[in-house]
Amino acid sequence: MTKGSIVAGFIAPHPPHLVYAENPPQNEPRSEGGWEPLRWAYERARASLEALKPDVLLVHSPHWQTLVGHHFLGVPKLSGRSVDPIFPNLFRYNFDLDVDVELAEACCAEARAMGLESKMMRNPGFRVDYGTITTLHMIRPQWDIPVVGISANNSPYYLTLDEGVDEMIKLGEATRRAIEASGKRAVLLCSNTFSHWHFHEEPALPEDMTKEHPQSYAGYKWDMRIIELLRRGEVEEVMRLFPQWVEEAFAEVKSGAFPWMLSAMGFPKTPAELHGYGTVIGTGNAVMEWNLEAAGA
Ligand SMILES: [Fe+2]
Repeated sequence: MTKGSIVAGFIAPHPPHLVYAENPPQNEPRSEGGWEPLRWAYERARASLEALKPDVLLVHSPHWQTLVGHHFLGVPKLSGRSVDPIFPNLFRYNFDLDVDVELAEACCAEARAMGLESKMMRNPGFRVDYGTITTLHMIRPQWDIPVVGISANNSPYYLTLDEGVDEMIKLGEATRRAIEASGKRAVLLCSNTFSHWHFHEEPALPEDMTKEHPQSYAGYKWDMRIIELLRRGEVEEVMRLFPQWVEEAFAEVKSGAFPWMLSAMGFPKTPAELHGYGTVIGTGNAVMEWNLEAAGA
């Protein structure tokens, strides 16, 4: 069997507003549109993903919170309705997805071998969180590629940040080992907003873009600083700044997907491509890609 590989990694944030704005048949609420630049960023990412022809998509979501250990979706087919508890007016989505249970089990076993508390999620009626669903819908609305869903055990919130990040770095290494042994072409998805300062009231028409702008100028400046560093391939500097970034921008990357993905990719020094940036209720969202296959070639 040929060695599997991570062909690309995407920063793929999950504001449910983006799904709402697209009016897909799976989502019940209807919209007039909105957040177009971010949705066009996802269109560029989709074209890139299409060309990569991956066998599997792996997503780490801050909104599947498992306080004890790292959990992996472990049921071959999952369907049901996913509702965003904060924005049930925007996101009531009927999902139907295929899980690559074999690879999920391999990731879980590798994580356990590295000393991480890890577990397979075997509940057939499990309601998949809106972060996982939104990221997967936005990057691949056809839902025709099996997925590995990974929980955020949120260790950076209740351990020290360093200890939590260390867990995510190990989880990334475990993920890479499992992918390499699988022989598959994998794409990683880091389901994270950058600056997470947000408005506390929604406009009467949520998609009224005259009300959309960064909530915090400090948060916006952090977004630009991080994007620029990533575009230059300076991931080491980004990881050095990580604690300050998380603190000052209230960045959602704290939940672990960002260090998980970078670690799995071996902290690549190749420049990341920015597909686009936009705010959603004031939070900063960047769609970015590391095409490792192209970089290797
Ligand atoms: Fe979120």
